[in-house]
Amino acid sequence: MRITIIGSGYVGLVSGACFSEFGIDVTCVDNDADKVARLQRGEIPIFEPGLDLLVERNSAAGRLHFTTSLPEAVRQSELIFIAVGTPERRGDGAADLQYVYEAARQVAPHIKNFTTVVTKSTVPVGTGAQVAAIIRETNPEADFAMASNPEFLREGSAIEDFMRPDRVVIGVEESRAETALRSLYRPLYLIETPILVTNIVTAELTKYAANAFLATKIMFINQIANLCEAVGADVHAVAKGMGLDRRIGNKFLHPGPGYGGSCFPKDTIALTRTAALHNEPVTIVESVIAANDLQKQRMAHKIIRAMNGELHKSTLAVLGLTFKPNTDDMREAPALTILPILQEQGATLQVFDPEGMAAARRHLPDLHYCHNAYEACQNADAVIILTEWNQFRNLDLARIQASMRPRPDGRYLFCDLRNIYVPETLRQAGFLYVGVGRG
Ligand code: UDX
Repeated sequence: MRITIIGSGYVGLVSGACFSEFGIDVTCVDNDADKVARLQRGEIPIFEPGLDLLVERNSAAGRLHFTTSLPEAVRQSELIFIAVGTPERRGDGAADLQYVYEAARQVAPHIKNFTTVVTKSTVPVGTGAQVAAIIRETNPEADFAMASNPEFLREGSAIEDFMRPDRVVIGVEESRAETALRSLYRPLYLIETPILVTNIVTAELTKYAANAFLATKIMFINQIANLCEAVGADVHAVAKGMGLDRRIGNKFLHPGPGYGGSCFPKDTIALTRTAALHNEPVTIVESVIAANDLQKQRMAHKIIRAMNGELHKSTLAVLGLTFKPNTDDMREAPALTILPILQEQGATLQVFDPEGMAAARRHLPDLHYCHNAYEACQNADAVIILTEWNQFRNLDLARIQASMRPRPDGRYLFCDLRNIYVPETLRQAGFLYVGVGRG
C-alpha cells in the first residue's frame, strides 16, 4: 500500500513515520525545500522522543520518502492525508484553512485511479465537505472519496500514542473510503484498538469535543486548586477522591499554571467559533478559555505575592519554559504570560530548559539563558519550576540552597508550579514552599 502525507509538521511527520513502521510505503510532501532536505539527511526538525530512530529505520528500509514534488506522490497513492498547519486566524481566532484548501487544489489534478483523500489536521466541522468540493471543482474527473481521520497524539509521547491509541476515529461517506482506511489501520485492529466509523462531520466534531473536554478537566481542577488554597485543602487528595470514581477517571486532573501547546488553546477557540456560527454557543468552553488565561496571570501574581511584592532588583531562577516536558514547543506556554509580568516588576530572570531554549529565545529575548538548572539558581531569590521535566524532579536541594540568596526570615523561596516536590521535604530543608492548591 502506498500513501502520501501532505505537510511534514508534527502530525504529518509522526503519522508518516508511524505508518511506514506499519510496513506501508509513505511519501511525505512538504513545500519547505529546506525542511525536506534536512529530513532526507535524517535531521528531525522537531524534538520528539524516538522519532529520529523511526525515520532513520524506515528511510533506510526504503519505505519512507521526503519530497517537495507532489504530483508523482499523489499519482501513486491509494490514500492522501492532508496534515498541513491550521493556525489560528488573526483577529477572530477561527482556524485558518488556507493551507488545507491549497493542498486540495494541488492534489486534485493528479488523482488518477480511485483515491481516498483524508483530513488529518484538526479541522472545523464542515471542512471535509469543503475540501471535497474544491477537488471536484478543480478536477471533475477525479475518482476519489473524502474521509476524516483526526489525530489524538500528544507531543512528547506521540509515537506511543500513534502506535497504541485509545481509539481510531474514521469519518466517511462511502464504503470505499472505509475499506481503504480500515486496511491501513489493520495493524492496530490486530491489537484490538477500537475503530469508530462515523460520518465526516461527526469525526471532525469528535476531535474538538475531546480536546475541549480535556481542557475543561484541567481548568476544573485548577479552579478547585485555587479554592483549596483559600480553604486550606489539598488538591491532590481532592483529585484522587474524584478520580477514583470511574465515571470521572484520574487523568488530566493535575493542577498547574494552565494548559498550552499547539492544540488545546487553538481548538477550544475554534470550537467556540463554530458553535457561535451555528447559534449554539458552548459557554462552558468559553469560560474554560477565560479561566486558562486567568490561571497563567494568577501564577505570576502568586510569585509576586510570595516575594512580598519586592521584585525590583530581584533574581529569579526559572526551570522549564516549554508548555510541557519532552518537547521543544513553546506555543502558548504559560512562560510566555508569566515571565513578562515578572520582568515588568523589575525581576532578572535566569532560565534553563532542556530543549526549549532556542524557541524561547525567539519570544523572550531578554532572559538570561543558562546552561543548566544550577547555573540558573546562582544568587537567585527564588526558584520557580514552570515545566515538570524529569531532570527537575530530583534536584540537589543543598547545592541549590548554597547558591541562593535567603529571604529576610532565613528561608529560601521555592515556587513549584507543577507540584512535583513533596512540600514537607522542602520545608524541612529550609525552603518556603509554594505549590498550586496545596493548602
Ligand atoms: C493534546 C491532547 O492530549 C492530544 O490528544 C491532542 O491530539 C493534542 O493536544 P498535547 O498538547 O501534546 O496534546 O499535550 P497534553 O499532554 O495533552 O497537555 C496539554 C497541556 O495541558 C499542557 O500544557 C499540560 O501541561 C497541561 N496539563 C495536562 C495540565 O495542566 N494538567 C493535566 O492534568 C494534563
